Amino acid sequence: MQRIFSGIQPSGIPTLGNYLGAIRNWVALQQGHECLYCLVDLHAITSWQDPAALRDQTRTQAAILLAAGIDAETHILFNQSAVSAHARLAWIFNCVARIGWLNRMTQFKDKAGKDREAVSSGLYVYPNLMAADIHAYHATRVPVGDDQRQHLELANDIAQKFNHDYAVEFFPAIEAVVPPEAARVMSLRDGTRKMSKSDPSDQSRINLTDDAATIALKIRRAKTDPEPLPSEAAGLEGRPEARNLATILGALSGRTLDQVLAEHGGSGFGPFKEALTAQVQESLAPISGETQRLLSDPGHLDRVLRRGAERANAIAEPIVREAERIVGFLS
Ligand code: TYM
Repeated sequence: MQRIFSGIQPSGIPTLGNYLGAIRNWVALQQGHECLYCLVDLHAITSWQDPAALRDQTRTQAAILLAAGIDAETHILFNQSAVSAHARLAWIFNCVARIGWLNRMTQFKDKAGKDREAVSSGLYVYPNLMAADIHAYHATRVPVGDDQRQHLELANDIAQKFNHDYAVEFFPAIEAVVPPEAARVMSLRDGTRKMSKSDPSDQSRINLTDDAATIALKIRRAKTDPEPLPSEAAGLEGRPEARNLATILGALSGRTLDQVLAEHGGSGFGPFKEALTAQVQESLAPISGETQRLLSDPGHLDRVLRRGAERANAIAEPIVREAERIVGFLS
């Protein structure tokens, strides 16, 4: 059985983008795989986090993942800092990955912006930690949204260079598992930017904990253009907001973009937004309801994560010990 690893940063409340690009796929892949899902708190602090908020968000994310259908009995749900193997392997990978490789990472360029000299060094070596997350378990399949593809290519390059430099066949190749639809959900305020849990504007995203009224308001205010919807996907050229909203409706209702447009083509955004609002509310209500219930017992969430970390540690520890032996550390 192939092993799956994926992670999400507890740097905010997961969004509809996280759901469609990753979480929904994580739930489906539990059939037929051994899965590890990780709240990557080490990654989160590459940008400063309020400590109390980080603790709260880690628990809230655990609750959301359980509510969305992650089975923490059969599979493993844990927070990254509780398993020291991640940080130890990341250090080895800092010494394997080349600076030139990191300089090509588009996400670093986006996140650092003009402030490259002032961001943390953790943000720069972040992809090495991500590679360590996966390779510490010898995982081979990694379900992610489109924005993480480049990081997974780097994770393969790191594994190959490690194997080559130490003349071993130790780390296997990994494969990105990216959903065919909605792999990149865009901001509700700007169809050219990714929907992000760390965007300063809450109006730019749907949070998985938003109630029905908040969802309705955000969709009503979502940016559109003056034209009616086209009847075919080709008509979405140069209309990123229209494409994004139609893609979301398709992904949540199990229809292709063409099917959505066949139904709504020629209609103005008013009636379309009503249909979209009803669909988002229907899809998210069970998750937000169950999340609230789970959050009323934080002790239970902490126990789930602690048990997950013990089980994750049992897999990663021997693998990372072996990597440490390969590079020549005395054990
Ligand atoms: P993060 O926390 O930014 O996002 C978690 C997952 O959600 C996907 N995603 C999206 N998909 C579609 N549309 C969007 N707007 C959108 N925004 C986010 C991401 O692609 C991701 O799959 N570096 C990772 C976390 C990580 C990781 C790992 C992932 C750390 N270690 C090892 C896989 C394997 C990140 O910041 O994800």
